[in-house]
Amino acid sequence: MDAGVLSVACMNASRIALVTGANQGLGRALVEGLAARMNRDDLVLLTGRSHQRVTDAAREVTQLPGTRARVEGRVLDVTGTDAIVHLAEDLQARYGGIDVVVSNAVARLLPEESQAERADEFIDVSNTATHGILRSFGPVLRPGGRLIVVASSLGTLGHLDPRLHHLFDGASLDQVEYAVESWRSAVHNNTAAEAGWPRWLNVPSKVAQVAAIRAVAAERREHDLAMDTLIAAVCPGMVDTATSRPWFSDYSQAQSPAAAAGAVLDLIFAEHADPALYGELVRFGKALPWHDGTPPVEQDRMLTP
Ligand SMILES: NC(=O)c1ccc[n+]([C@@H]2O[C@H](COP(=O)([O-])OP(=O)(O)OC[C@H]3O[C@@H](n4cnc5c(N)ncnc54)[C@H](OP(=O)(O)O)[C@@H]3O)[C@@H](O)[C@H]2O)c1
Repeated sequence: MDAGVLSVACMNASRIALVTGANQGLGRALVEGLAARMNRDDLVLLTGRSHQRVTDAAREVTQLPGTRARVEGRVLDVTGTDAIVHLAEDLQARYGGIDVVVSNAVARLLPEESQAERADEFIDVSNTATHGILRSFGPVLRPGGRLIVVASSLGTLGHLDPRLHHLFDGASLDQVEYAVESWRSAVHNNTAAEAGWPRWLNVPSKVAQVAAIRAVAAERREHDLAMDTLIAAVCPGMVDTATSRPWFSDYSQAQSPAAAAGAVLDLIFAEHADPALYGELVRFGKALPWHDGTPPVEQDRMLTP
């Protein structure tokens, strides 16, 4: 691992990193970057929901010339809250904790699909899973660790109708979870639009992910910064992946997954946890103001970046 990085954590022990939804896209590029920047006795867990896909991807990353750390595939369907709990417990028991966790998975939506019909899966993969990861992995994050949630620039509060801001502004994690479940119920009951929820699932989902990070960060800030530990959400910018491709006709501005992973990896491997970025939504090394943004025009396609 780079000099000084995660330096407070177990000086002589090997480090463990885990990425969710990592068999393709940005998650896989993050695993590749972690495996290249960590040491030979470190371990990167490439997780995803399909045994075959994670096994194949882990083998391919292992064979890359730049890979230094060990890379293992692990099945983790993030919609299984118990599976998240058990994996965190297992890593705690085996290794005494974890150094890097990246919550990255997303359910792929297609423009022609009904957003409402996919709401349960989308919310489970992005939000219920994020809450579970924060609750289960937060306590086992070793000093000097990094806990990152991949959100997007749509994750600032201003992207929501002002009627909804009170649900997320200054909310605890339980309150964020309550807000997400209220949104889910409103989608099911066909009352979402009248309550101000946008039709595009990605907007409230990303705001809720950032709100969840802010909630946990507010509780841990002082202790984490004393230990050089960082908790943050990140916006990777527009990335050319199978999830984003159906939504854009112009790809000239899209980054490759490897390029997009670079800024996230720089945050992870920064020599110290920057107090200005702690608990914030970070894009290319800068915190995005929480109240920025305007609600989407409904005919716009609001998936990324
Ligand atoms: N692409 C962009 O322009 C962009 C912009 C801003 C933010 N982001 C964010 O970046 C992150 C990665 O997106 P991406 O574009 O790289 O997407 P992607 O290439 O489609 O990758 C999504 C990953 O999530 C996995 N996944 C889906 N459901 C899962 C589940 N139940 N359990 C575990 N894993 C599951 C997928 O696995 P399978 O292969 O099994 O489907 C896949 O590995 C997301 O949080 C996204 O919102 C992306």
